[in-house]
Amino acid sequence: MVNGAIFAANNVEKALGRGYEGLCSKVTEIFDVMKKMWGPEYIDAVIEKEKLSDMVNSSALENRIYALQRIVLKEDTYVDDPIYVLDKIEKKLANIIAKKQIESKLQKEVEKILDEKQDKLLDELRLSILKKQRGPENSKTFKKLANLQKMDTIKLSKSIMEHLRPSTIEEIIGQKNAIAAILSKLASPYPQHIILYGPPGVGKTTTARLALSLAKSLKASPFNDDAAFIETDGTTLRWDKGDATNPLIGSVHDPIYQGSKKDLAEMGIPEPKTGLVTDAHGGVLFIDEIGEIDPILQNKLLKVLEDKRVDFSSSYYDPDDENVPAYIKKLFNEGAPADFILIGATTRQPKDINPALRSRCAEVFFEPLTKKDVEAIVLNAAKKLKITMDALVPKLISEYTIEGRKAVSILADVYGNVIYKKGLKNIHLTTEDVYEVAALSRLVPFNKQINTEDVVVGKVNGLGVSGFLGSILEIEAVAFKREKEGGKGSGTIRFNDTAGSMTKDSVFNAASVIRMVTGIEISDFDVHVNVVGGGNVDGPSAGAAITIAVLSAVTKKPIKQNIAITGEISLLGHIKPVGGIIEKIYGAVQVGITKIIIPYENKKDVPCNISDIEIIAVRNINQILDIVF
Ligand SMILES: Nc1ncnc2c1ncn2[C@@H]1O[C@H](COP(=O)(O)OP(=O)(O)OP(=O)(O)O)[C@@H](O)[C@H]1O
Ligand SMILES: [Mg+2]
Repeated sequence: MVNGAIFAANNVEKALGRGYEGLCSKVTEIFDVMKKMWGPEYIDAVIEKEKLSDMVNSSALENRIYALQRIVLKEDTYVDDPIYVLDKIEKKLANIIAKKQIESKLQKEVEKILDEKQDKLLDELRLSILKKQRGPENSKTFKKLANLQKMDTIKLSKSIMEHLRPSTIEEIIGQKNAIAAILSKLASPYPQHIILYGPPGVGKTTTARLALSLAKSLKASPFNDDAAFIETDGTTLRWDKGDATNPLIGSVHDPIYQGSKKDLAEMGIPEPKTGLVTDAHGGVLFIDEIGEIDPILQNKLLKVLEDKRVDFSSSYYDPDDENVPAYIKKLFNEGAPADFILIGATTRQPKDINPALRSRCAEVFFEPLTKKDVEAIVLNAAKKLKITMDALVPKLISEYTIEGRKAVSILADVYGNVIYKKGLKNIHLTTEDVYEVAALSRLVPFNKQINTEDVVVGKVNGLGVSGFLGSILEIEAVAFKREKEGGKGSGTIRFNDTAGSMTKDSVFNAASVIRMVTGIEISDFDVHVNVVGGGNVDGPSAGAAITIAVLSAVTKKPIKQNIAITGEISLLGHIKPVGGIIEKIYGAVQVGITKIIIPYENKKDVPCNISDIEIIAVRNINQILDIVF
């Protein structure tokens, strides 16, 4: 549109007549209002930019209205109805003014609030800046930390057991084979996972710990100097199946769940918590009583052993969220490292351990300690405590326990009691001191000693096993010849009602074997066989012993009590192999037995370092007869 030719008829004056004056002053007013509202500079700048100065300064009203229309309505059209256009311009300006007024009112409100709350807002701002600069600590948190550190310096009873814990492999007594086996598996360039079997308190944990430090010192070993030894216990490992807590493997705290850090929770970010398997990365994870771990958790552990990493997942995790810290991204994307050597210890039998776990681990067996071992442990502990004692004290303590741990703790008890009574100077422990502590703690001798000089009719030392501990089964038999009441051939056999059926069968086998070997008709006797101290024996391994007891009762021949017998008996009098030979040998040594009769086929199970006891392997009942009577 060309300026200067806006109105076709160009004669507003004519068209409006007397109203013309009024319109002129309205247009002038509108210009004034605009200048007030936006400022004269702004209006001038617009006029210049839009090249409207001719129009604005024109004496023709229509040109000035046209200029207003361009500036206010931003419209470039033909003005054929000036009153309508001015009306439109006025309305638009009124709108703008109203909006401006509301804005300024709001602004005033905001200023008022700011004025009122300024101090508080400033305080909050300052605090948040301070928090950012200083991290999570403040005077209260520092005080709490200092308290904890102070508590760490105070140690009570635990320290004496720590003090007496062997500090070198040489101090571990009676476990030569196990130590050699562990070292060969751990201190090699390719260390293996291991399961340690054995009774409680015989040095499993201590050996594993020392083996790692020894391995670290070897060049070929992959363990670094700072390789960790992380210790945990299968019986106390708690976890929930939803994996919200899993201290062994690790878990993801969902952000809504309590326990996620507040700042992460606020942003809805889940945080993975790594577990003990990651703490043990590069070192050893030692799990005591590994057989007690929940089977599902065992499977999770197996997976970690395979992958050497732990995967985390959470439906709350958003990889594209820019607020997620890098360490959390890394944990979700790559998992946490968990490359360690597992050493599990158990007092269970190998058959009771998860086969998948067993197949991934080398197996090492700790032996029960002998009395002499326990004595040596007590002597070494006394040396560490720098005390003297009666020569008989170690032997006396070894009567009360077969565990190294228990022996050391009895010694520590006696030591404490003597200090309490006599003070810290020249500490000397006597046998009376041991008896006193034994009475106070209600200790009873672990295994009564057998009088090995005795010869007794109808009494045989059998051998049983429970867990990794062997013990003596006292088997007795009496036989009364049937002469009255029905007479010959109507004798009865009685045995413990609670005994298992296999053991009961052994009694019948015994009767037949005796008849076959000696020609004595067993049915001419009433025979009663008893296992002292609990008849709930099971299995056939007492068969040979029962046969000898009955034979002795029937023939009245006394049996030497320094001998113990184990072995199944067949109907033809053959002695068949049995289980638990090592444990039975240790059990027999404990009570002072000097000779053990075992099945010939078990000869291979006898450890080569047995010296305190004579072991005789036999094939049939006749060989036993030659030894026991
Ligand atoms: N064979 C040993 N030689 C020397 N000290 C021993 C022996 N066995 C046990 N001890 C003493 O007993 C303490 C406990 O032993 P350790 O914890 O190694 O036994 P453990 O076999 O792991 O027992 P558990 O099966 O109950 O875990 C040791 O610190 C040590 O003082
Ligand atoms: Mg242990």
